[in-house]
Amino acid sequence: MPLKYWQVCSQEIPLSSLIDLEHVTKVYPLGDNAYVALKEVNFKMASGEMAAIVGASGSGKSTLMNIIGFLDYCTEGKYYFDGQDVSHLAENELAMIRNTKIGFIFQSFFLLARSTALQNVMLPLFYRGVSRDKAAERAMMMLDKVGLAHLAQHRPNQLSGGQQQRVAIARALVGGPALILADEPTGALDSRTGKEVMDLLLQLNHDDKRTILIITHDNEVSKRCERIVTIKDGNIV
Ligand SMILES: Nc1ncnc2c1ncn2[C@@H]1O[C@H](COP(=O)(O)OP(=O)(O)OP(=O)(O)O)[C@@H](O)[C@H]1O
Ligand SMILES: [Mg+2]
Repeated sequence: MPLKYWQVCSQEIPLSSLIDLEHVTKVYPLGDNAYVALKEVNFKMASGEMAAIVGASGSGKSTLMNIIGFLDYCTEGKYYFDGQDVSHLAENELAMIRNTKIGFIFQSFFLLARSTALQNVMLPLFYRGVSRDKAAERAMMMLDKVGLAHLAQHRPNQLSGGQQQRVAIARALVGGPALILADEPTGALDSRTGKEVMDLLLQLNHDDKRTILIITHDNEVSKRCERIVTIKDGNIV
């Protein structure tokens, strides 16, 4: 018998998980021994969420983020990304998802020193075979979004730390990723500039509904995220 209208409406519609890690363990080989960096970690993140990962140095934060961003494999456990089991995909298949769905931001920016801000932001689009004109147009839009259109022709050494990080954010965003992963994005910035970078990330989460996961040691950063995940000795506590 078909469901009545009220029955359909009263059914709970689950928030879709963009990230779903189940019992994920990461073991690094270490000489004759092995180091267990993550122990049976369960972690979910809904589409549109903004979360901070905090924890002591060596607790496993970057290890977790590297697995989430397909930069490394887990040793055991399951990883579902956007509903798809990605635990056993080959490197080229992971690279394809990574290039289209994930944007990375790192503490040390990783901009190409000899290229302009605009060329740095265009780079991910080249990997996807986007034409030069289209890439330049999209990159310029992203630089405008982070407030740097007027500095598009500057090279990294002609920009402040905060401006370089905003270029890196524009580069992370240019491909329209569903997920932004940031490992200590304000770690190399003074507190005022760090706050500006956080303002921008919060705005991207709020206005554009980007899912954002940030590793940070900075309380000022974590307290502005709607959710804080603490890692201790390879466990989420
Ligand atoms: N490639 C590797 N081989 C062996 N051990 C590793 C490797 N990478 C990380 N580890 C170890 O795994 C643990 C977790 O490292 P991870 O980089 O995830 O820590 P973290 O929480 O990001 O620390 P930090 O805040 O200092 O960046 C550390 O004890 C580290 O020494
Ligand atoms: Mg780290």
